[in-house]
Amino acid sequence: MTRTDLHIGLFGFGVVGQGLHAVLARTPGLRARIGRIAVRSRTKPRPLPAELFTFDKNDLLGDPALTVIVELIDDADEAYLIVKEALLRGKAVVTANKKMLAEHLPELIAIQQQTGTPLLYEAAACASLPVIRNLEEYYDTDLLESVEGIINGSTNYILTAMHRDRQPYAEALARAQALGFAESNPALDVEGLDARNKLVLLLAHAFGLVVAPADLLAVGITAISELATAYAREQGLIIKLVAEARRLPGGRLAAGVLPTLVRPGHELAQVHDEFNGLITQSTFADRQFFLGRGAGAFPTASAVLSDLSALTYGYRYGYKKIQQNAHLALAPDAAEVEVLVTFDEANAPAEADFSAVHEQFRSAQRGNYLTGTIGLGQLARAAWLRRPGVSVVRLAGPLRATMAP
Ligand code: HSE
Repeated sequence: MTRTDLHIGLFGFGVVGQGLHAVLARTPGLRARIGRIAVRSRTKPRPLPAELFTFDKNDLLGDPALTVIVELIDDADEAYLIVKEALLRGKAVVTANKKMLAEHLPELIAIQQQTGTPLLYEAAACASLPVIRNLEEYYDTDLLESVEGIINGSTNYILTAMHRDRQPYAEALARAQALGFAESNPALDVEGLDARNKLVLLLAHAFGLVVAPADLLAVGITAISELATAYAREQGLIIKLVAEARRLPGGRLAAGVLPTLVRPGHELAQVHDEFNGLITQSTFADRQFFLGRGAGAFPTASAVLSDLSALTYGYRYGYKKIQQNAHLALAPDAAEVEVLVTFDEANAPAEADFSAVHEQFRSAQRGNYLTGTIGLGQLARAAWLRRPGVSVVRLAGPLRATMAP
């Protein structure tokens, strides 16, 4: 097989862009060279010769010598314009921008199919873990039952620091930011939105289901109450932010992101700091667990590098499962979940929303909680879910098909 040399136009020279530059310098076997770098700030000091940089995106998009665009900027809206323009001009694109991808996936798939130009984004989900290409290529059957895991490094870093090191939330978040793990708008991390964007990508490649981020329930870690944390400790459980997609009987699939209580022996309890962990369950291969660094300059750059290498042998995503699994539909009302809800008196959850309430506890000193079973769709629609003073944590156990009433 002939391998093509890559002449790269790089957008962005932040944490990941600089990581990629360093990684490329240490992988001479990959015949890839950064020809030009487009950046926004005219004043930031940069460690490379000034002539390598431009402030005009057209210097890259319009240069026929640059055959590959690597998009590593922060602004998802600008990234979308760049990626679309590059694909339409026949330039292969590698991006790490999960927000941009999740928001525009149907159109970006259509453009790839019309133009035949590849768009690769291994770095957009779980950084160094090779998940997208594996889900796309290896599990190329009807037999994948679920994917679940920790797919946001910053929140895992924060939860680890709070649980293991007893660090306060604000301190742990500041550290995740300083280490370059968090998004520049960290609300995307801590509200579960970054994990949800990644789950959109996993759904497309694992199950051929292309959904909008807003179709998926995402609960982050900001609302986790002291009472929920104490409950976890008393039960010997660990709180993790877990994304899950599970196939249910009848061509239905449920997916969402929720803080989840994990028992110490569970694979996800072994995922510490900014690491990510993804468990696949398939009928014959059974359970498999991917563990690795989920954020940071080099781990993310390593995934970009792997995509660049894939481009040299003409790889592109086939999105085969979109045709194969055309019968599969997202059905949050077909799934239910066991939850622990803590709340203050003014914001009690509506008990009628639950298919069963298992346990209730009310105390003026310690606070109130209930545990119960609730439909995933019902939980997503519940007005009380987003009220201040309400915290929802999933009790251990997978999403499961709703019992017929
Ligand atoms: N902010 C993201 C995270 C970066 O913490 O996982 C990697 O996608």
